Amino acid sequence: RKIDNKDIEELCHDDSIKLAADIIKSGGLVAFPTETVYGLGADAFLEEAAKKIYSAKGRPSDNPLIVHIANVDDVENIAKDIPDIFYTLAKKYWPGPMTIVLKKRDIIPYATSGGLDTVAVRLPSNDIARALIEAAGVPIAAPSANTSGRPSPTKASHVSEDMDGKIDMIIDGGTVGIGVESTIIDLTSDIPTLLRPGAVTLEMLRKICERVDVDPAIEHLLTGSEAPKAPGMKYKHYAPKADMKLVRGDESAVLRYMKDMIKDCDKPMALLTVDEHKKDLEAEAKGNSDINILSLGSIKNPDSIAHNLFDILRKCDELGVEYILSEVFDESGIGKAIMNRLKKAAGFEIIDLR
Ligand code: TXA
Ligand code: MG
Repeated sequence: RKIDNKDIEELCHDDSIKLAADIIKSGGLVAFPTETVYGLGADAFLEEAAKKIYSAKGRPSDNPLIVHIANVDDVENIAKDIPDIFYTLAKKYWPGPMTIVLKKRDIIPYATSGGLDTVAVRLPSNDIARALIEAAGVPIAAPSANTSGRPSPTKASHVSEDMDGKIDMIIDGGTVGIGVESTIIDLTSDIPTLLRPGAVTLEMLRKICERVDVDPAIEHLLTGSEAPKAPGMKYKHYAPKADMKLVRGDESAVLRYMKDMIKDCDKPMALLTVDEHKKDLEAEAKGNSDINILSLGSIKNPDSIAHNLFDILRKCDELGVEYILSEVFDESGIGKAIMNRLKKAAGFEIIDLR
């Protein structure tokens, strides 16, 4: 079949990609890089392979998998009743960090769709990911390649921490570019609905779609009868082992609060801050080894914060801290994705100084 990129065509003949594709074709599991986070891939048409994914991740079986394709046309084999707006979005933002929920065809087993009649589809931009899907010749079901509940992997070493001995192969493609998972948009009801914020931002979606609703599960902790539309959004997620809270307020109030924490420190803790505040907080900590001051990136460059976020949350686990306090960020653009992951990591606990 036609591949619209020469690099990908060459990669398809690479020995490692061929080996990985053979593993997928025979029902095995391969972790591979995408531009967002590492995925744990299996043949999306094989029920048994999907079941292996749930077991390797320790993931609840009602949490559906994203199906990755290599060409836009492949969507017609796995989804039906596809609205026109799908093609407009795909043309604008695929290949890329956007997943679209559509009505599924019978060929997608319920094991892959978590029992739903819908299927989440994504065409990643990472060359290795696309070559692997192309070489396997089947769509690849892939959740993030972490143990369920842990931060998503942004490096091959994160994948091996969680998956060594449980899967057949890891393709090391270096550190991923974006660092937070894809945007999910549901097109199965009249109004497109954002189910998970990512690097294709709400602002970008609203440029294309007349109206976009936002699933409430993105913003706050759901209560009682409320249920998120993306089953995965209901689980406590990205969670480091330590107790974690966020602190919100104007810059000077937040810094004062963090400095008070440093003074009163009685257990190993991590303060998640930004490049612009790091020196000031370090001066306050004066080398106290119980206090870890970690910068997520620069306030001026929110992409850097998205890029580092999961690596820093994993670092907190490695350091064995008991408490984590993080700054909050502006929710425009990629900030909405950053804040969604931070709030979930902190179980939505926010200290409000305003
Ligand atoms: O960036 C990404 O999307 C990465 C890379 C590997 O592509 N994948 C990823 O998959 O983040 P995962 O399984 O960790 O998250 C998938 C999310 C879950 O919250 C799941 O509930 C939701 O997508 N989802 C999948 N299928 C769905 C469907 N049919 N309807 C609603 N939500 C769905
Ligand atoms: Mg995940």
